[in-house]
Amino acid sequence: MTSDAAFDLVVVGSGIAGLYCAIQARERGASVLVVTKGAIDEASTRHAQGGIAAAVGPGDSAADHLRDTIEAGAGLVDEEAARILCYEAADRIADLVRYGVRFDATDGAVALGREAAHSASRILHAGGDSTGLEIELSLSSLARRDVTILEHTLAERIVVEDGRAAAIEVYDTAAREHRRYEAGTVVLATGGAGQMYRVTTNPDVSTGDGVALAYASGAEVVDMEFTQFHPTALVLPGQPVFLISEAVRGEGAQLFTTQGERFMPKYDDRAELAPRDIVARAIHREMAASASAHVLLDITDRSGSWLAARFPQIYRHCLAAGIDMSTDRVPVSPAAHYTMGGVRTNTWGETTVPGLFVVGEAACTGVHGANRLASNSLLETVVFAHRMVERLYSPPDPAPPAPARTADALMLLPPGGDGTPPTATQVRELTWDRVGIVRHAEGLREATVQLARWAGTLPEPTDRRGYELRSIVTCGRLAAEAALRREESRGAHFRSDFPEPAEAWRRHLVFRHPGTFASSPGVE
Ligand code: FAD
Ligand code: SIN
Repeated sequence: MTSDAAFDLVVVGSGIAGLYCAIQARERGASVLVVTKGAIDEASTRHAQGGIAAAVGPGDSAADHLRDTIEAGAGLVDEEAARILCYEAADRIADLVRYGVRFDATDGAVALGREAAHSASRILHAGGDSTGLEIELSLSSLARRDVTILEHTLAERIVVEDGRAAAIEVYDTAAREHRRYEAGTVVLATGGAGQMYRVTTNPDVSTGDGVALAYASGAEVVDMEFTQFHPTALVLPGQPVFLISEAVRGEGAQLFTTQGERFMPKYDDRAELAPRDIVARAIHREMAASASAHVLLDITDRSGSWLAARFPQIYRHCLAAGIDMSTDRVPVSPAAHYTMGGVRTNTWGETTVPGLFVVGEAACTGVHGANRLASNSLLETVVFAHRMVERLYSPPDPAPPAPARTADALMLLPPGGDGTPPTATQVRELTWDRVGIVRHAEGLREATVQLARWAGTLPEPTDRRGYELRSIVTCGRLAAEAALRREESRGAHFRSDFPEPAEAWRRHLVFRHPGTFASSPGVE
């Protein structure tokens, strides 16, 4: 394929990670192309409700934020990366303010919300519960001014030449054309993979494309067994899943069974503000015990006017669904929400493929370990996107990440059954049922075999849905195979056949494509 143009940086994705990185690189004088497969603001970012964590309040400290982050991560947090996250937070918030983000304030001071497993109120929010929308719109209007942005343009392949990421091939879904862009540096900012599950808070675009593209290009993928399930989503028949922010529990909402029993205190002293994995599993258990499709979230001690001011989006959405939060309990159930794993990077966004950087939810910097602390995701995107741009412009070069000592590869099986490729719905049902909130060997084995067989049936993609199907199959396989190997329970990964954490498993599972580097089964 001939080249269509060359840029210093080609960024894939237009959520907070991609746009922030593009803006910062332009400020340094780089030529930047952003390609994004939908409209510019189709991204998880615009849906973020609770806010962004930073220890900027009186009496709070980066050290406390770090301690909470490490504790939530259940033994797998990279402490150096988490230290950077918490100590660089305030500077990155200042950048966002400089880029036009208006955080909520009370009496002239920034308003700080509370979320689960944070020891202080340290969540900055905007428009009440519209933090992500405020950030996405501020960054996209700035980026539109002097960054080249191609919407409806899907990255389909990273071109690696002489061992270095040199270009990307894209598919223009409107013109139905393939193109190639040369890149000094390729940056993947493609977000998470929640769409590999049947029930997810993630938007359509979150199909794990960056992880699949990076794996195919020889980069290492790590921690994919750790999917965060958000405890409280509103799941109504025929309607998109809608998140009911943890900040609602931060303001005092309590959880009840459909029979009216408040159940969280019996699971954890922190009750409704226990870490997400604990609350999600407790809800899952109560739903099973009462054969109910949901539990109930109660914030009826707040007035309609208070709710409309603090949670305007959520309050409005519920009202439209016939639920008045000031008088009615909200039916909620868990949903796949966040991909803790991703492409393995160092603290400068570098992968093991020279010239290929990954930022945002698609990356695994190690700050979340086995369980992300609420509102640390938006923060991670800007902290590490900033460092990525710094890395490009600040000699001397820090050492690039060393390849993992050992890495697994996905198993190869011949196509099964009659060789018919799966539908996306079939893939999502399988991962939800077998690689979901509670896992066990039998179900995971079934998922790994079925997904490996399906992988062999997939035709060369000819449209966006075809590329996305390939991505969710790859991500599903990475998640299922890692979950099967990890014979313990830790953070968001729960095995009913191994319900306790095992010290021997206090390590990471790394996957690397066998055709690109020498590989042998193992862990880091
Ligand atoms: P995204 O914002 O998802 O952007 C990814 C971009 O990549 C999109 O533009 C997409 O179209 C594009 N893309 C993907 N594949 C391709 C491809 N092949 N080619 C071209 N483009 C591609 N985190 C918090 O910290 N606080 C919160 O309050 C919070 N609330 C949340 C609420 C919801 C409902 C959800 C879903 C998530 C929430 N999160 C929250 C998580 C947080 O929003 C995300 O982790 C974060 O926005 C990810 O940003 P990102 O830029 O990495 O990815
Ligand atoms: C929420 O508002 O509950 C989501 C926060 C997050 O995912 O960090």
